[in-house]
Amino acid sequence: MINQDTINKIMDTARIEEVVGDFVSLKKRGTSLIGNCPFHNEKTPSFNVSVTKGIYKCFGCGKGGDAVHFIMDHEKYSYPEALKFLANKYNIEVEETVQSPQNIELQNARESLYIVSEYAANFFANELWTGEDGRAIGLSYFKERGFREDIVKKFQLGYSPDVWDALINGAVAAGHKEEYLEKTGLAIRNDKGKLYDRFRGRVMFPIHNFTGRIIGFGGRTLKTDKNVPKYVNSPESDIYHKSNVLYGLFHAKKAIRETDNCYLVEGYADVLSVHQAGVENVVASSGTSLTTEQIRMIGRFTENVTILYDGDAAGIKASLRGLDMILEEGLNVKVVSFPDGHDPDSYMHHVGAGDFKKYIENNRKDFILYKANILLKEAGSDPIKRAGIIRDIVESIAKIPDDIKASVFIRECSNLLQVEERVLLSELNKMRAAKFKKASAGNNTSFAQQSQYQAHPQDGPPDNLFENPDPFSQPESDASPDNDQLQEQEIVRLLLAFGHELVNWDKIDNMYIGSFIMQNLSDVVFEDGLCKRIIETYRDEIENGHLPVANQFIKGQDREIANLAITLSTSPYSLSENWYNKHKIYVRDETVNLKATILGGIFHLKKRKVDRMLLQILSEIKTEIDPVNQEILMGRYSFIKGVEKEISKFLGSVILK
Ligand code: CTP
Ligand code: MN
Repeated sequence: MINQDTINKIMDTARIEEVVGDFVSLKKRGTSLIGNCPFHNEKTPSFNVSVTKGIYKCFGCGKGGDAVHFIMDHEKYSYPEALKFLANKYNIEVEETVQSPQNIELQNARESLYIVSEYAANFFANELWTGEDGRAIGLSYFKERGFREDIVKKFQLGYSPDVWDALINGAVAAGHKEEYLEKTGLAIRNDKGKLYDRFRGRVMFPIHNFTGRIIGFGGRTLKTDKNVPKYVNSPESDIYHKSNVLYGLFHAKKAIRETDNCYLVEGYADVLSVHQAGVENVVASSGTSLTTEQIRMIGRFTENVTILYDGDAAGIKASLRGLDMILEEGLNVKVVSFPDGHDPDSYMHHVGAGDFKKYIENNRKDFILYKANILLKEAGSDPIKRAGIIRDIVESIAKIPDDIKASVFIRECSNLLQVEERVLLSELNKMRAAKFKKASAGNNTSFAQQSQYQAHPQDGPPDNLFENPDPFSQPESDASPDNDQLQEQEIVRLLLAFGHELVNWDKIDNMYIGSFIMQNLSDVVFEDGLCKRIIETYRDEIENGHLPVANQFIKGQDREIANLAITLSTSPYSLSENWYNKHKIYVRDETVNLKATILGGIFHLKKRKVDRMLLQILSEIKTEIDPVNQEILMGRYSFIKGVEKEISKFLGSVILK
């Protein structure tokens, strides 16, 4: 573990504008810096860097954080990796605290698996380029297939000699333990306890994780014998988990981010060919059917996936359903199919790099419309089959989590299928309802907020969706009926923004707003998990005689807390002039009449809680049969109603907003 002193030193030294500036070109705008967001595609900059606060925040996609978070997000590093990156940038020596022996051993064991895998890749590559068989058989095979030398080198392709122990002998002579050869699956132990090489007489494709370390291999046979499996692959190991690896991602990630699209193909050969054509944003699921983890991994780099399909229609139909999974993860899916039974690899070598590139760029079709077309063709004029298609298509659309996107598809499919939009919508709502029912039966509330569609989606989404660039910055008082999240967040926002200011109100002398708020909320229980954690930390610290600062939440290691703290403490008007101009009045109110703002926050929350208590009691009264109990409940109701009136009166008299 990196020790706290080092972390502090890194945090103190790293300057947000320098760290971000290495990746994003920033311009001065008012009190902050602004640039095009590196995390989503945009033409007008909404990515803000506040030098004084040491944080960045994008009002387009919502990403935000400090220098360490930026490196984590941008480079896909873990927390310690990002710290080390910054330490290196600023020449800070990293001191690590001593780990427990078990930890070290575990880490060393994993490290050994990486090291032996890397050794093997070098061994196989060396055989390919300098071995007699390697050159005569392996290298000439790649050349015959049209792979350029630079591509063979870039992907570290290799050749495994056709003997039982070439790798083992080399590795052991170089000081590697048999144990690790076995654990990576590079070697297999037979019944008699003898170790032999897994890969023999095959061309080798090393598989990298996304930081570029080698974690496994695929080996392709060069024989045409049907009894020999075409590919032999590394088994699962402590460093290789098939379900969350995409072949080629390490070499593709930069291009995926730059083009904001990821091409998805089936095999190793396809990745190489597409890459060789100059289209570097390509990855393969490598034989296994696509997993949710793989899709999410792509989603960390882009929202757009384009599937490059083999030409034959039978395969396409079978895999259509699998693609719904990608929609479900919120990604946009396009497909390109190839003519005459070609796959991406064969088509590239058939037409050449230039034409191939043009072809895939010009033949992308949206998946849902593509699917509708294929099914339509198949159904012909059979009305029953056509009805089935409608269901099938709407099922796909129902998977799209984004309502606006879904409504666009509904409209397009209504044209394509010659079915009224209204019919498709009612089908969609039925499916959503069924899904919702299923989800809530399983005690899963994640669908609870999925709305039903209106019959006229062309009316568009509510305007405020676009008008307010930061929905958290100004909670609308009674926006959400089911919980107090917005009001609770408002309190946290006030604590972070004004906790350190001293007040002198009426009988209150020289008190910190932080303490004032906490005192006034001693009887309030927070419900939102994150707000609750922040409030509890805040309260604990105050009780220990220390007033917390916003930065400790913003720059803490807990990413969820940090994100919320950042969202709440970067009101757009303090970062963007535009917003400031537009909302000047609100800003003036908030800071000039701080008392009203603070009391408003506290009492709006209290009123929410009280209102909900009242509703609760009312429903209890309705179901209570025992008249005595009813009496008690009525008493309680009128007491709380009294409190509610007080609060309302207070809000009405003191609070301006
Ligand atoms: N695959 C596998 N085992 C097999 C066949 C295929 O693991 N017996 C995986 C490999 O990852 C392969 C992918 O499935 O890359 C796609 O299969 P295929 O299209 O047959 O392989 P290609 O890589 O295209 O190889 P080639 O073009 O050389 O036949
Ligand atoms: Mn192939």
